[in-house]
Amino acid sequence: MSSMTVNDRPVRFDLDPQMPLVHALRDAMNLTGTKACGGDCVGACMVLVDGVALRSCRITLAEAEGRFITTIEGLSGDRAHPVQQAMVAEQAIQCGYCTPGIVIAAAALIQRNPAPSKEEIEEAIPNICRCGVYPRLVRAVQRAGRVQQRRETISAAPPPGISADDAAEAVPALRPAVGPR
Ligand code: FES
Ligand code: FES
Repeated sequence: MSSMTVNDRPVRFDLDPQMPLVHALRDAMNLTGTKACGGDCVGACMVLVDGVALRSCRITLAEAEGRFITTIEGLSGDRAHPVQQAMVAEQAIQCGYCTPGIVIAAAALIQRNPAPSKEEIEEAIPNICRCGVYPRLVRAVQRAGRVQQRRETISAAPPPGISADDAAEAVPALRPAVGPR
């Protein structure tokens, strides 16, 4: 049994403690916004672990014990996070598969450095985008930083019209988590 907080909710997983966190999030909590590449490379599986962006395929449930996990669903209930708004405003999304991991990495970056240089963005966001949104990504992250500093406002992405919890409940999880959610 592994206990942690996911998107501000206490949760227990009755799963193998050596299971990578990404599988518990996707299969037991139905938080499928976190993507997986099937390897250990693109970073689409990034989540915040105690505020630090990490690949959830590299963390076991045992290693996540007691931690505070934030997935893309928990970053903002209404898509109002500056990075989410700036990614839309700068059209830095194409197929979107890499987007959740990139948004998580960018959110962690502007939290500690709201005015990052192009080089700092490239270093802090090593995620791979097969569609090649990199130039737009740099503009989006720098714009998100300005929004976070209240030097600019953006309203580009409307609220989704469904809560992350309701969306996760809409399709049964493969291996339901147990305990309070
Ligand atoms: S699943 Fe691909 S980097 Fe984690
Ligand atoms: S937008 Fe398609 S992989 Fe990045």
